[in-house]
Amino acid sequence: MRFSNLIASAILLATAVHAIPDASVGSGLVARDPMPGKKPVAKSPAAAAKAAPAAKAPVVVAVVAKMPTTPQLAFPADNGDIKPWKYVGCYAGGVELTYNTNMCSCQNHGWKGTGMPPFTVEKCIATCKGAGFRYAGIKGENGKKSCWCGSGVSDADKLSSDSKCDVPCEDNQTSSTKGYKMNQCGGKTVWSIYKAPCFKEVDQETAAGGYQYAGCFYYQGCGCTVLPEKQASVSGDNLSVDSCLEACAMKGYAYAGMTATQQGTGKYAWWRGDQCWCGGRISSWWIKRHQNYPGDNSKCQTLCSATAKIKKSLSKDDYQFCGHGWHMSVYFNPDLAESDTCLPEPVKPEPEKPQPEKPQPEKPQPEKPEPEKPEPEKPEPENPDEAYYDEK
Ligand SMILES: *[C@@H]1O[C@H](CO)[C@@H](O)[C@H](O)[C@H]1NC(C)=O
Ligand SMILES: *[C@@H]1O[C@H](CO)[C@@H](O)[C@H](O)[C@H]1NC(C)=O
Repeated sequence: MRFSNLIASAILLATAVHAIPDASVGSGLVARDPMPGKKPVAKSPAAAAKAAPAAKAPVVVAVVAKMPTTPQLAFPADNGDIKPWKYVGCYAGGVELTYNTNMCSCQNHGWKGTGMPPFTVEKCIATCKGAGFRYAGIKGENGKKSCWCGSGVSDADKLSSDSKCDVPCEDNQTSSTKGYKMNQCGGKTVWSIYKAPCFKEVDQETAAGGYQYAGCFYYQGCGCTVLPEKQASVSGDNLSVDSCLEACAMKGYAYAGMTATQQGTGKYAWWRGDQCWCGGRISSWWIKRHQNYPGDNSKCQTLCSATAKIKKSLSKDDYQFCGHGWHMSVYFNPDLAESDTCLPEPVKPEPEKPQPEKPQPEKPQPEKPEPEKPEPEKPEPENPDEAYYDEK
């Protein structure tokens, strides 16, 4: 795959990821609401789940080539020309960077081109951005750099000096065009932290109220879910939609999702809505699935564990639903989303090989394949000797 294609995919991916909330939470969801007046809002998720419309409109979505089987495949690095992240300091332990990219400088030597690429600061940040996080943290334990992502660091953990973050980042690179600190890639028990430049600060008073129901997303086959980070603090036998939205809002995640875990086995098996996940992006593979299978929207009918416990004392209108097996109830809060101004730069035409006059269609059209356009002929050099010398 050529580099320009990679960039194009990255842009389509970013566009697609941002198109979803616009399409389903904005005009899309409301306009196609089969029950006018009953607008799905976070306050009554049960009603929202029932009012979820069939998501018909196909949107151009570039997907990862294969069904993702790991979080790293579900949330590929953003290889576009991203706006530099800001170095925010050297932090002591306890930071909330729980998403392990699995990138480690210990794998740099003899890398064979599969799995996570060798550790560099830029690759680390591209990976955290690809998964929609606000922060990237580099740990330098025993000189081995590893890369973690998350969406919150505590001011109390910030060290007054950078001196403990003293592990060099790349063996031979002393400066970075993005302004990254090439001599500070964490330390023994400390982290070098970078922050994404494209998010608004979180208003913790109001953030949880800004979510709207976006649909029921299927994800079977993924060794992960449609969102990257599980919230252990609220998952379990007391999960409600509200507690999950609250947990995701506190960390500034635009997406919150609830799903279920199987209890028991065989004919005694049942599902408990007990998992809360958050993220800044939905995995594109599952966006595409969602668009192609509108019937998925009727599947998120498992009661949240907090509702199930006290079901008898509740009226049905107060039930809250937390997805189902392999299905996630997804909520989106546009105030917490990454700003569009930080999406990758548009693809620049390649200067050496101008494309044929006719612009390529954005979406390949399988019905009518375009005949291959011949590449424009390269002008012959006037003096053959010059060509000969050029190649030497
Ligand atoms: C650093 O430079 C040395 C000498 O040029 C080279 O042998 C080594 O492979 C380089 N290391 C990396 C990580 O590029
Ligand atoms: C369950 O969660 C709610 C908040 O969502 C809390 O008020 C309540 O105390 C919790 N109950 C238990 C038993 O932890």
